Amino acid sequence: MSIAEITVAWERYARDRTPRRDRNAAGAASWFNWTSHPDHGPDEAVLGDLRGRSVLELGSGTGCNLAHLATLGARCVGLDVAPSQTAKAIARWGHLPGLEFTTGEAVDTLATTPDLFDVVYSVFGAVWFTDPDVLLPLMRHALAPGGVIAFSHTAPADAASPSPDACVRRYDLDGRQWVDLLVRHGFARAEWDVIEGPGGRGPRTLLVRAFA
Ligand SMILES: C[S@@+](CC[C@H](N)C(=O)[O-])C[C@H]1O[C@@H](n2cnc3c(N)ncnc32)[C@H](O)[C@@H]1O
Repeated sequence: MSIAEITVAWERYARDRTPRRDRNAAGAASWFNWTSHPDHGPDEAVLGDLRGRSVLELGSGTGCNLAHLATLGARCVGLDVAPSQTAKAIARWGHLPGLEFTTGEAVDTLATTPDLFDVVYSVFGAVWFTDPDVLLPLMRHALAPGGVIAFSHTAPADAASPSPDACVRRYDLDGRQWVDLLVRHGFARAEWDVIEGPGGRGPRTLLVRAFA
């Protein structure tokens, strides 16, 4: 698929999305969620200490997870292929310091940026929808020494088929397959976990981490 076709598909997806609510159940104005269930599962602690670290999100959507990391003192860049998502993220979170949103396709951008990041992550984002043999080496290349990548998507056994998200290919790999690929593409160590839905119900989430 060309970048133009990917953009059209994700603009179609973005059109009907409802914005994340203003406050979560705990009353917080910003928070991090790796799963598709509200107020559920692990938070940003998965990424380690964030203060002063440089962070890149691939497929940042409306920017709600990344904005939370900026409030914790990280220097954050959000990348999304859909210009309307970037616009929504800036409109909602653009006032926060240390936070930048930009429009671009993950492979295209990583192939040309000289920047290194301490953390590169994706929540149901570009990693799920991009050929891993192309994207993972670029993510490894963009990682500073001691850096970490992390990403989540619906556990493959629970993912609706075909992909309802857009007319783009989805890479429904299981944890073992991701770990094999990550190690093959130069990560020193990789691990995965499956997060059950609330009360054991609803789609489970696969969460993968890998270290430089
Ligand atoms: C399912 S949404 C998730 C958005 C956000 N991470 C969240 O959790 O709300 C997937 C996002 O990834 C973006 N995306 C998909 N493929 C991409 C790519 N190759 N490069 C950059 N962004 C991409 C889409 O535009 C969309 O905003």
